[in-house]
Amino acid sequence: MSLRYNNKVAVVTGGSKGIGRGIVRVFVENGAKVVFCARGRAEGESLEGELNQAGPGLCTFVTCDVSKEDDIKRLIVFTVEKYGQIDCLVNNAGWHPPHKPTDDTTAEEFRDLLNLNLVSYFLASKYALPHLRQRQGNIINVSSLVATLGQKDAAPYVASKGAIISMTKAMAVDESRYNVRVNCISPGNVMTPLWEDLAGQTPDAIAAIKAGENAQLMGRMGTEVESGLMALYLAADATFCTGIEMLLSGGAELNYGFKSQIPN
Ligand SMILES: NC(=O)c1ccc[n+]([C@@H]2O[C@H](COP(=O)([O-])OP(=O)(O)OC[C@H]3O[C@@H](n4cnc5c(N)ncnc54)[C@H](OP(=O)(O)O)[C@@H]3O)[C@@H](O)[C@H]2O)c1
Repeated sequence: MSLRYNNKVAVVTGGSKGIGRGIVRVFVENGAKVVFCARGRAEGESLEGELNQAGPGLCTFVTCDVSKEDDIKRLIVFTVEKYGQIDCLVNNAGWHPPHKPTDDTTAEEFRDLLNLNLVSYFLASKYALPHLRQRQGNIINVSSLVATLGQKDAAPYVASKGAIISMTKAMAVDESRYNVRVNCISPGNVMTPLWEDLAGQTPDAIAAIKAGENAQLMGRMGTEVESGLMALYLAADATFCTGIEMLLSGGAELNYGFKSQIPN
């Protein structure tokens, strides 16, 4: 099998678990050199060991909290010092807080989530772009299907994800002069530790997961590897695509469902 991203250098934020882990895995399987970050060291180092043993690409784990600008700078500087180039930045690290009505949500909670989910994507792009321009590279932002659908009791999260899609388009316009492509992926339901955590906060986690599976026409959730394959397509193959949103949703946005919130 030919390697689709051989010797390219990628930075993946939030790469130790879930969707980011799927992206790191598929990139390494396709020959890339990947620097990935998270806050927790144990999962990151364990994934680094596993993937480097399997190859054929390489990966390096770096601890970094993307809510801190200095950490983001350090991640980019580390990558350039190690490999001398960046071909792809995947902005993925983010969080979905437990569902909460607007009435109970504070301004500080909203601002903190915007900082984590949105400003971090902006800053990582800002620091990586001088290097991406030299390589005519690309940025992939992980948004969410709920940016388009909306979601109950999650206004700050939905707003942060909607802004990611808009920022993707704005940066695609700005960076086109350097031949840097900027695209985004909007996952629907992908089974990850985050999804499991959220299900665990409901009265019946098994029922919540079943309902999550049934939200797709395909009757199942997406996988980490399917997330990686979509990112690889955008990075390696989609050379005439910029400013687009690709849905990774199993058809969750189609057909009518049981949507009324009005009590019978
Ligand atoms: N799963 C879904 O169904 C779904 C659907 C739509 C959109 N998304 C989006 O996809 C992205 C990944 O979600 P996921 O479900 O894969 O989440 P996940 O299972 O919680 O994994 C998140 C990853 O990001 C890291 N991370 C979290 N906060 C961080 C921070 N402040 N700095 C650096 N790394 C951080 C985590 O490691 P540490 O905790 O150790 O830092 C972990 O590696 C998020 O942007 C999410 O909004 C997910």
